[in-house]
Amino acid sequence: MTMHKVLVLHGPNLNLLGTRQPEIYGDETLADIDNALRERAAQAGWEIACRQSNHEGELIDAIHAARLDGTGAIIINPAAYTHTSVAILDALNAFDGRVIEVHLSNVHKREAFRHHSYVSLRADGVIAGLGSQGYHAALEALIAAG
Ligand code: DQA
Repeated sequence: MTMHKVLVLHGPNLNLLGTRQPEIYGDETLADIDNALRERAAQAGWEIACRQSNHEGELIDAIHAARLDGTGAIIINPAAYTHTSVAILDALNAFDGRVIEVHLSNVHKREAFRHHSYVSLRADGVIAGLGSQGYHAALEALIAAG
């Protein structure tokens, strides 16, 4: 299994980035973010796949597929499922590679219901509040660790 393949997984409503509450989530689109990540991964010689879904089961299916296709790490912004989904936590617990949880906003500065993350029980690293740079920080950490 190659450790140089990363899956970037974006949860619900993140397809609206750029127009969704830009004061919180910024004005970059998801395509902007994914393209920049693809460019950096290619430069490092890493394989990358970026996926977004508004459906919990599709996110789980993508995690299951990552168990079998040589993916060594998952960068995930589970969006609202962060705070609700035992099922995504269970799927990540069945994945053997590294997991980094990313949030564009600083969830700890926001409503109390955003302070708890099921996914953090599995994540090897958590980045919140750095906007789209959080995804880049996650990717750089993975590349640096090799
Ligand atoms: C988010 C934070 C979540 O609380 C929220 O439901 C999102 C996005 C973030 O990236 O800041 O949809 O994960």
